Amino acid sequence: MSRLREHGDVVRLKLGPKTVYAVTAPALTGALALSNDFIIAGPLWESLEGLLGKEGVATANGPRHRRQRRTIQPAFRLDAIPGYGPIMEEEAHALAERWKSGETIDCTSESFRVAVRIAARCLLRGEYMDERAERLCVALATVFRGMYRRMVVPLGPLYNLPLPANREFNRALADLHLLVDEIVAERRASGQKPDDLLTALLEAKDENGDPIGEQEIHDQVVAILTPGSETIASTIMWLLHMLAEHPEHADRVHDEVQAVTGGRPVVFADVRGLRHTNNVVVESMRLSPAVWILTRRAVRDTELGGYSIPSGADIIYSPYAIQRDPKSYERHLEFDPDRWLPDRVKDIPKHAMSPFSVGNRKCPSDHFSMAQLTLVTAALATRYRFEQVAGSKDATRVGITLRPHDLRVRPVAR
Ligand code: HEM
Repeated sequence: MSRLREHGDVVRLKLGPKTVYAVTAPALTGALALSNDFIIAGPLWESLEGLLGKEGVATANGPRHRRQRRTIQPAFRLDAIPGYGPIMEEEAHALAERWKSGETIDCTSESFRVAVRIAARCLLRGEYMDERAERLCVALATVFRGMYRRMVVPLGPLYNLPLPANREFNRALADLHLLVDEIVAERRASGQKPDDLLTALLEAKDENGDPIGEQEIHDQVVAILTPGSETIASTIMWLLHMLAEHPEHADRVHDEVQAVTGGRPVVFADVRGLRHTNNVVVESMRLSPAVWILTRRAVRDTELGGYSIPSGADIIYSPYAIQRDPKSYERHLEFDPDRWLPDRVKDIPKHAMSPFSVGNRKCPSDHFSMAQLTLVTAALATRYRFEQVAGSKDATRVGITLRPHDLRVRPVAR
């Protein structure tokens, strides 16, 4: 994907019998995401729907999608985020507390764990969520592993064979759906209606003003938990990798947090003042974006940057390639958080850094995500220095998201 830009702003690719259009110029990825001529569809989405459900916001289009976005949006609005502050703080500090100086940390499971706990506890609330969050972690981690294989290697019936890997995948997928049913049933039985996303989903009405169906409620919870966990988990893994590989920036994060907090534990309200920490998170997301590929399908004959795109064509673009493009970034492969300082950021072309995308499919969780990532980074870097240990595999693993293969680090108390 990174090399395609040399061939043009839109590149026609033959993938077996299929023609796919790859968009390589930042401005055109923005135009694609903002145009009504393209929808979410294509083979990758279809296989996703088969596993996770057809009625959730991430795969819906048209009026249903607009209605679903209206239902979930209030839970992610900028003014709703401080309400999640205490849970984010608690989870960030509990993570730092769980780790002991000198021991080896399995970053994959630890990052997944904190990501799922924050999403589940903030958005679905409830005390029971602690134990459920643990089960959700196990189910989601296994499902994500198997799902990518099923999306890109369509072996169809072979995935039904009673092999250990298939059985483990099926068990985890069944448990994920069961967990979601349990969460919904328990909330209903409790008779409580806290002001949260789950209440919004349970009270949602369809286009005719009738309550939405059980399947849609279920698929909506799945559609929020699944993108909410793997993306954050992968980003936290890359942040830990960055803290280990760039101790000078880890030290700057530590110093900034100390200056802002005066030595007390960092809290949610500090996040706005943690400019450098925020820039470190953004720069880490630039070089190692969790979401590395996005797809659309043309719904009519149209054009993009002067190139004709026929109706039904599948389009792909890669935030990874866009965010590492030497045409957009000076010293494009260098980890340089200061490129996000106000006087330098203006040199970066529009849409060259849109890790949450733009337009009607933009991630609803941009503020929610940035707040928790900044807080977790601040809490960890104030307490520890990190180093990779022997046997850690930090090469990039390509899956539904990009993450290190098997990152292992040792925290050393400051
Ligand atoms: C959609 C990125 C975290 C929920 C998206 C999209 C991107 C994205 C790029 C747009 C997909 C497209 O255009 O096809 C990220 C990144 C995250 C993150 C980089 C963290 C580092 C989260 C979290 C949640 C979430 C924490 C929920 C708790 C969603 C949902 C959609 C979405 C529901 C579908 C929106 C729609 O289709 O209308 N995300 N996301 N994301 N994200 Fe996120």
